Amino acid sequence: MESLPALRRSALAQCRRQSRINSPLYLDFLAPIALRAQRRNASTTSPSGSSKPRYTLSKEQREYLDSSLRVNQAGELAATLIYTAQTPQIVRSHPHLRPLMKHMYDQEAGHLKTFNKLVAQHQVRPTAMYPLWEVAATFLGWSTAALGREAAMACTEAVETEIGSHYNDQVREILLWEADAEQRGEELDDELKEMLATFRRIRDEELEHLDHAVAHDSKEAKPYDPLVDVIRFGCRAAIKISEKV
Ligand SMILES: [Fe+2]
Ligand SMILES: [Fe+2]
Repeated sequence: MESLPALRRSALAQCRRQSRINSPLYLDFLAPIALRAQRRNASTTSPSGSSKPRYTLSKEQREYLDSSLRVNQAGELAATLIYTAQTPQIVRSHPHLRPLMKHMYDQEAGHLKTFNKLVAQHQVRPTAMYPLWEVAATFLGWSTAALGREAAMACTEAVETEIGSHYNDQVREILLWEADAEQRGEELDDELKEMLATFRRIRDEELEHLDHAVAHDSKEAKPYDPLVDVIRFGCRAAIKISEKV
């Protein structure tokens, strides 16, 4: 498994690469329509062998995916940092939770690696808020773990509730595009189908973390309601900001 500093370096290296790229265009399904048309003229058959025409994304749809990938990368960075900050304190007082904390961290590190790759592949601009989210996520992880095991689990419950529903919105949106494509006798680009499968898998893993948190007494945190409400509000605000900035 790659270490967290390596994953962060990889994301920051992408930021630097972005600023050196002269051509902002990339010949994939996130590329503008004119370039996609050129590519379609060159080949109308997808690697999967289907002869159906490819569904062309509108400018709004491309912008939606662009901001989704930016938010997802930032969210996964935050998740790895929260678990990194929580784990030593939690494991010290509750050694039996070591495998669970490691399991959740490993999955988050895998998610971050996935989005680092997708952000680089589609030349998405990473969020400029990266340094601030790093500090905020580390503080959130450290402070909830300092409050105890239940508060750390309440943090996971709050974060995963927001992130799970965020991924669910993205899955629902791409499914609408798929239905639209079907109606037109077209089909989604293979890469986009793969991205949909990735979003679904990661959503399910986030919801698995939510179940683990509830099973490990997140509801016993004191004070439960204000803690969960504040963290959920913070997550929603961070998502909104990272969509644009
Ligand atoms: Fe994740
Ligand atoms: Fe998660």
